[in-house]
Amino acid sequence: MKITFKNSLKEAKKETLFISVSSKNKDEIIKEKGVKTLYLKCDEAEKMNSRKLFLLVRKMIILAKGVKAEKIGFDFNDLKFKNIKISDEELGEIIGSQLDFANYEFIEYKTLTGEGFNSIKEVIISGANKIEIKKAILKGHAITQEVNKARSLSNTPGGDMTPQILAQKAKEAVRGLPVKVKVLGEKEMEKLNMEAVLSVGRGSDEESKFIIMEYWGLSRPKSGRSKKNEKPIVLVGKGVTFDTGGLNLKPSSSLSGMNMDMSGGAACIHVIALVAKMKLKKNVVVLIPSVENMPSGKSYRPGDVIRSMSGQTIEILNTDAEGRVILADALTYSKKYNPEVVIDVATLTGAAVVALGERMSAIFTDDDELCVKLEKIGDKTGDYMWRLPMWEEYENEIKGNLGDWSNVHNKDSRYGGATYGAIFLQQFIKGYKWAHIDIAPRMTAMTDEFLAQGALGTPVRLLYKLIEDYKS
Ligand code: BES
Ligand code: MN
Ligand code: ZN
Repeated sequence: MKITFKNSLKEAKKETLFISVSSKNKDEIIKEKGVKTLYLKCDEAEKMNSRKLFLLVRKMIILAKGVKAEKIGFDFNDLKFKNIKISDEELGEIIGSQLDFANYEFIEYKTLTGEGFNSIKEVIISGANKIEIKKAILKGHAITQEVNKARSLSNTPGGDMTPQILAQKAKEAVRGLPVKVKVLGEKEMEKLNMEAVLSVGRGSDEESKFIIMEYWGLSRPKSGRSKKNEKPIVLVGKGVTFDTGGLNLKPSSSLSGMNMDMSGGAACIHVIALVAKMKLKKNVVVLIPSVENMPSGKSYRPGDVIRSMSGQTIEILNTDAEGRVILADALTYSKKYNPEVVIDVATLTGAAVVALGERMSAIFTDDDELCVKLEKIGDKTGDYMWRLPMWEEYENEIKGNLGDWSNVHNKDSRYGGATYGAIFLQQFIKGYKWAHIDIAPRMTAMTDEFLAQGALGTPVRLLYKLIEDYKS
């Protein structure tokens, strides 16, 4: 999608679908003297909030696509609402970002017909007079290119998205950029005692991989001593390319969508690509343990006790709680970098979806300041976060019988499942500044969001903004 700036919409050609935010009580297209205008229902101007603004921008695209328009035009000032207190630059970034977000469709597996696929090819914006606003719009547009690439990785069917292919996609995402990518195979993981990752992947014919991506936008810290700002921000992403549940096989209805269980990893890949493209003066490392969770004669079993890379043992009570097991080793690995902060992103629990519904992700951290920061950026970017508890008392229910920690509640209770996932992860990153984001609620779009069904690419925007503004 191309964005063109004009001083006035009058300069736009007649084949453009003009869009006007109106106080009408329905969305309506009116044709006058050969000029088509879409009047966008927004009858609650005084009740507007930022969430509705995101939807309004996306609705422009969805309705225009619905009438097969290829070019749309609107005025920037039409999207200013006096009770949404944001700067013109912030508004610009939202507009640029949300237009592309709504225009995306996953067509890789569709056969091209004569009609072609309808998408908006050009957006003409008038009234964005200051150079700063134009830049902000283009920045939002650039950010969403990366969000959409993360969506495509997630949407790819499980048969075409193995750990090996995910590693390949990580390399492709940063081709030509100053990002170093290293992929560990099973032999190398064995040498590092990454038994947790290896155990989960054992049931699959696909080789497990551990993907490491490093971007040194500042000089790389010498071992041990790092100057202020040089300690890297480490992002850890769950990379389960298909989650059958393993021997604790999921029921049929829960299997669909489990090709998207690498969404955390996909988001991290495209965050670091974006950070490099924007040439941020920050140090960022991405770690993705990638496996396929399959039942077979080689699978890890309920009752198995695994010695993780950290030395702590994990008693497997449920092979479907595999994400936390592979992340345990990745969190341990992250300590090698003497990280400033570690943030893991994972489609970790159905329980987070039960707790919050599908409109926000769950965030867990002991660091109140980091939490507030992430919640705020979430509201600004649309990667909404809601904090759930992680008191140390919860540790009692994951104390193992045979091993140090059990990977699910030790009385097999269903209560508080998202918290038990978080408190388990915490055991492998104690003493570090750390947050866990359970994105299971936001793995896929809801039908009323003016977005293509399927993956959402969350939280690429949130993590990018966190890194951009990060001050240690
Ligand atoms: N990948 C799933 C969680 C999930 C479920 C993500 C639905 C997105 C949508 C995870 O590996 C899982 O299976 N979790 C179990 C944990 C349970 C065994 C404690 C769950 O949520 O049922
Ligand atoms: Mn699972
Ligand atoms: Zn999973």
